[in-house]
Amino acid sequence: MNPPARHAAALPRVAPVPDPAPDFDPLARVYRWMEWCTFGPWLGWCRSHFLGELGHCRRALVLGDGDGRFTARLLAANSSVAVTAVDASPAMLHLLARRAAAHAARLYTARADARSWRPVVPASSTHFGPPYDLVVSHFFLDCLTTEEVHALAVAVRRSTASRAVWAVSEFALPPGRLSGFLGRLLIGFLYWAFGRLTGLRVTRLPNHARALERAGFSLYKRRSRLGGLLASELWLAGES
Ligand SMILES: C[S@@+](CC[C@H](N)C(=O)[O-])C[C@H]1O[C@@H](n2cnc3c(N)ncnc32)[C@H](O)[C@@H]1O
Repeated sequence: MNPPARHAAALPRVAPVPDPAPDFDPLARVYRWMEWCTFGPWLGWCRSHFLGELGHCRRALVLGDGDGRFTARLLAANSSVAVTAVDASPAMLHLLARRAAAHAARLYTARADARSWRPVVPASSTHFGPPYDLVVSHFFLDCLTTEEVHALAVAVRRSTASRAVWAVSEFALPPGRLSGFLGRLLIGFLYWAFGRLTGLRVTRLPNHARALERAGFSLYKRRSRLGGLLASELWLAGES
């Protein structure tokens, strides 16, 4: 039986429990081959598009890098950067650590749900941790809703230096009727497939641009590929 209305109004408000993070463990080993068979080199080109502009960065926060292909390249390209890599998948983090083994001293990994993880300075070294001057998320924000991207961006903004950069790679809906329709079909299929394979509950692209803007970041550069289906972006944190 429902409580009388006056009692119901007095009940404490309970924050909604977020869906569990998707489980990418079963895909970890085959992930790069799945990617290669579907998109060839295109996603890799998106990830590395702004790599040459990150040479000044010293403290990086890499969110959901999966098997570590970008993190390993960043560590190799910039010998002064220390990377904190956050991912929910132990199998992905294992591959990431193996791939970046040559630079292990400059890598700190955290197995966590990025939505609730908060930056810490690890006891082992003060090189890691905030304030970050670089944030990276490649094909990760699409695992979140717009509201979750916004909450994450607000938390990230609190731990970034002023004028920090955020490198983003994402899928996007191409402009135009036919390409927009085909893009919608493809993205819908990807969400369906990853929903089945990993338990991902999100079913549509978040509006990450609006979420980042609302959190105090502004778009600095953007390069789109495959007729607008893929985008590499560089965002700047505003003055805090
Ligand atoms: C689609 S894969 C992208 C991997 C890689 N960044 C790339 O460019 O291919 C998403 C990655 O984000 C991780 N991930 C998804 N949701 C997460 C969450 N809520 N917290 C932490 N990691 C998450 C997954 O474990 C996986 O490694």
